[in-house]
Amino acid sequence: MSCTLITGASTGIGEEFAREFARRKSDMVLVARSESRLQQLSAELSSSGSPEIHICAEDLGDPESPRRIYEYCARRALRVGLIINCAGFGFAGEYVSMPEDELQEMVQVNTAAMAVLMRLFIPDMVAQKKGAIINIASVGGFQGIPLLGLYAATKSFIITLSESLHEELHDKGIKVVVVCPGYIETGFHARARQYPEHSILPVSSPSVVVKAAIKGLYKNKLCVFPTVLDFLLVFLQRFLPRRAVLKSAAFLAPLKYKGDSCPSGNALF
Ligand SMILES: NC(=O)c1ccc[n+]([C@@H]2O[C@H](COP(=O)([O-])OP(=O)(O)OC[C@H]3O[C@@H](n4cnc5c(N)ncnc54)[C@H](OP(=O)(O)O)[C@@H]3O)[C@@H](O)[C@H]2O)c1
Repeated sequence: MSCTLITGASTGIGEEFAREFARRKSDMVLVARSESRLQQLSAELSSSGSPEIHICAEDLGDPESPRRIYEYCARRALRVGLIINCAGFGFAGEYVSMPEDELQEMVQVNTAAMAVLMRLFIPDMVAQKKGAIINIASVGGFQGIPLLGLYAATKSFIITLSESLHEELHDKGIKVVVVCPGYIETGFHARARQYPEHSILPVSSPSVVVKAAIKGLYKNKLCVFPTVLDFLLVFLQRFLPRRAVLKSAAFLAPLKYKGDSCPSGNALF
């Protein structure tokens, strides 16, 4: 029997995926740094009768971690049929004030880790002639966002790579879908130093993302927007000059800091 590998499974959207796949009786490998939180979740899901849950505590900021995750699965003869790349974080603020180590970590966690993880597991999927990958990007990946630039760039990376792999792996029986949510109520914003409560945009629950992602996967969609508004925010860009798109993103994600006080507005995603 194949299992589902979920990165970023300890909280937020990844945790919601774990709950959903427990309901679907799928064996799982849960990945995040917080081992105790993963164990707590695993105990909860196991008590409600879910199948086997494996905990693989890893820091995806470490370039060696994807290989360790792959070896963890190989040692236990776990056949990974579905990968959900959900781990990620943002940083809101001036690019020049971003700590260099946080910059490196974001590139590693949001982009390199998921890219290497897919590179390691795809050959096994190809050999099985089936497999699926859900990558969590963002509507923020479709344009630059002043004061959220590196995060937006990492999400563009995920969209571009996912689209390429969707087409490249189609004939090999492997589905790749990229999911692009707007604001979701999770701990993401606290870590990114954002204030969603000031946003003019609505905030959805993680379950909206999970339901849309699974539906999109069944329909072999290339790109999934969990809400109509997410779709419109991206679709309407086609009718605007690029500079206007950037200005709109800046307007919808007003992240200007006033001294040390909190941002006057809020981030879009
Ligand atoms: N929330 C939103 O509004 C929103 C919108 C669009 C896209 N997204 C995307 O959705 C994904 C999930 O975010 P979320 O909203 O669910 O936020 P979250 O609740 O903060 O979850 C982030 C997850 O990533 C894991 N993670 C972070 N750094 C890691 C590292 N170095 N190594 C391993 N795991 C790490 C965290 O686990 P540990 O801390 O235990 O390691 C946690 O499980 C992210 O890719 C985010 O960019 C979020």
